[in-house]
Amino acid sequence: MTTLIVGGYGSVGHTIAEELATEPDGANAVIIAGRDETKANDVASKFGDHVSGIAFDLQETDSYARVLEDVDQVMVCVDQSRTAFVEACLERGIDYIDITASDEFFRKVEQLDDVARDNSATAILSVGLAPGVTNLLAKRMADQLSTVSEIRIGVLLGLGEAFGPAASRWTLEQIGREFAVPRAGHSESVRGFSTPEPIEFPRYGRRRAYSFDFADQHVLHRTLDVPARTHLCFDSRAVTSAVYGLSRAGLYRPAVEAIGLNRLTELVSTLSVGGDGFAVTVEVDGQQHSTAKILTTAVDGREQSRVTGIVAATVSLATRDTRVPDGVHHVHEVLEPGPILDVLREQGYRLTNSEQVRKTSEPVTLLP
Ligand SMILES: NC(=O)c1ccc[n+]([C@@H]2O[C@H](COP(=O)([O-])OP(=O)(O)OC[C@H]3O[C@@H](n4cnc5c(N)ncnc54)[C@H](OP(=O)(O)O)[C@@H]3O)[C@@H](O)[C@H]2O)c1
Repeated sequence: MTTLIVGGYGSVGHTIAEELATEPDGANAVIIAGRDETKANDVASKFGDHVSGIAFDLQETDSYARVLEDVDQVMVCVDQSRTAFVEACLERGIDYIDITASDEFFRKVEQLDDVARDNSATAILSVGLAPGVTNLLAKRMADQLSTVSEIRIGVLLGLGEAFGPAASRWTLEQIGREFAVPRAGHSESVRGFSTPEPIEFPRYGRRRAYSFDFADQHVLHRTLDVPARTHLCFDSRAVTSAVYGLSRAGLYRPAVEAIGLNRLTELVSTLSVGGDGFAVTVEVDGQQHSTAKILTTAVDGREQSRVTGIVAATVSLATRDTRVPDGVHHVHEVLEPGPILDVLREQGYRLTNSEQVRKTSEPVTLLP
């Protein structure tokens, strides 16, 4: 089994490489790829002969045949706008896993379902923390209810973590950008980092979080047919409020245009504020028999890049043991949450579950 990790020396990719390279069940070959051959080789050299590094640029379609030779599984850890590389993998019967948080890209990959089926390949999307763990938790709680009326997801990111440039750039791009959120029976246009919602996070308490275009809400709506929404905040209340203020006043995007997205991404990496913790809270609202209930599961720990990498590596290993049907899938459609959540617990992440009975006359929102 040979796995190619594109972006394999980035913040998330490095953890995936480490988890797969040191996997106790046997040494499978791992190829670490990115545009910088020296960085790829430096990371590969830490692990032994079964791990190698190569230079590869996703934009260079001419190199796909060379890079994909003798590869069984590909994991991509950088955002793409085109699906040429996904198609190249699936056409060769190579299984594909992507950790992006972009629903726009997911919708394009979903169109390749026939290509995957025709070539006996699988593509697994929504892999990581959010999307990823959030999808699995929402599905698991939805399965415990007879009907589900709404899914609410909160994500809190610690600003003290050394985010990879790709992740920072993606997050900064979403602030102030309009997107459609699924509501019961219709969709509504909202701006990234607007519409505050109070959410209870383990370790951080109650925070105001803001609508954000993470893919999980869209994918859960498409696959479970339930309205879902995701809100984001940072561990620093001051930075969260400042970003909201800029977005609300319509000043954020002009500021980004003036500074430049690359420069802003660099500036953010020098911020010395906040810690390296993260938390996610997933609430599922519905009926269990004739009782109205809100089921909640929260996860917290340190370093969202690391937990994303651990989840992605666990998905990679799980797809070798579980027969995933050919085609394009989101993680919660084909993998059981239990074993993945067990790995998180073993790695020191904390999961907390709670359940609240709601009188049908009470408002749907958990928090006042
Ligand atoms: N699902 C989730 O919960 C979740 C969580 C965190 C992050 N993410 C997503 O994961 C991705 C990676 O995040 P990260 O923090 O690991 O970012 P990162 O540290 O910047 O890593 C990106 C990697 O991709 C490589 N790369 C960039 N452009 C490339 C290209 N054209 N061809 C080949 N390789 C290229 C980079 O190396 P070079 O620049 O040297 O080529 C680097 O190794 C982001 O897209 C982020 O949105 C998802």
